[in-house]
Amino acid sequence: MKNLIDALEKNSALTKEEFTFLIKNHDEETDRYAALKARKIADDIYGKDIYIRGLIEFTNYCKNGCYYCGINCTNRDAERYRLSDEEILLCCEKGYELGYRTFVLQGGEDPFYTDDKIAAIVNSIKKKYSDCAVTLSIGEKEYDSYKKFFDAGADRYLLRHETADDAHYRKLHPESMSLEHRKKCLYDLKEIGYQVGCGFMVGSPFQTAENLADDFLFIHALKPHMVGIGPFIPHEKTVFADKKAGTLKETLFFLSLLRIMEKRVLLPATTALATIDSTGREKGILAGANVVMPNLSPVGVRKKYKLYDGKVCTGEDAAECRFCLERRIESVGYHVVVSRGDYKA
Ligand code: 5AD
Ligand code: FES
Repeated sequence: MKNLIDALEKNSALTKEEFTFLIKNHDEETDRYAALKARKIADDIYGKDIYIRGLIEFTNYCKNGCYYCGINCTNRDAERYRLSDEEILLCCEKGYELGYRTFVLQGGEDPFYTDDKIAAIVNSIKKKYSDCAVTLSIGEKEYDSYKKFFDAGADRYLLRHETADDAHYRKLHPESMSLEHRKKCLYDLKEIGYQVGCGFMVGSPFQTAENLADDFLFIHALKPHMVGIGPFIPHEKTVFADKKAGTLKETLFFLSLLRIMEKRVLLPATTALATIDSTGREKGILAGANVVMPNLSPVGVRKKYKLYDGKVCTGEDAAECRFCLERRIESVGYHVVVSRGDYKA
């Protein structure tokens, strides 16, 4: 097993069979070995710095019906909200004071926000905070829309591919959605010049070791700047309510493999990881992650942006999370930096 991890470090890839073998057979010793190697690689490139991104969940309306997601359009019980432009800018203002230099605008695929509206919001943030990066995470669009947002000043785009296997993709999404289009979006975004993030859920329903091997191969081919992974966690009002959550152990191991494969990649320790384990983010950092994305959304809407059950940090405000995170990160020997936290090429 260790020889496969060494080979991954050396060649930045494995065959599908090798990935599958590793994913099926890794044990505690393999995990430890991978985590140490992953941490060393991250330390060599990013030192003890951890980058923070202020997440603004600005709409929970969504036109899609992804089976795993708590804010999918079929959930009649979700209380829907949208933040106004002024509310979004207020989040940025508070965030800036707290040391954030990246703002992530995340939302469901909400047709209310036309391309022009999004471009205007991006533009107003960039005008006011020219030393900050703006990241969009608003789903699948066409090339021209992505280009418009980029020209308005957007720097980065997060769009998890969710799974790189077509049959698995169809088990997680309604027929109106396709893996082909999602992949096209990611390649379009790269071509336009965004720093791009893809990613997948660990332990999503019906996921196999072979599917995960394909995720690694897809990521290796795409060469994203960022990869977001976190455990799948069931949401009570979805068709996957009774499915099992992904585990801490698997998520940490995959974080390490991603770091070893794509050495410079920006790797967040996600809120979902913190939700399944009270020190999940800290463990994520020790396994190779170097980014955290705490919430800047107004406390009044936090509980409504519920993709899965039990989400942490829905009662705390921006300042509370900021300081809580600082302590947590320092507890494992790292520190938060006030910086855009760009990909180190
Ligand atoms: N559990 C964990 N992650 C989820 N996401 C959506 N629903 C869930 C869930 N039930 C993830 C998806 C999406 C990202 C914004 O959140 O991967 O891309
Ligand atoms: Fe939000 Fe700890 S990070 S409460």
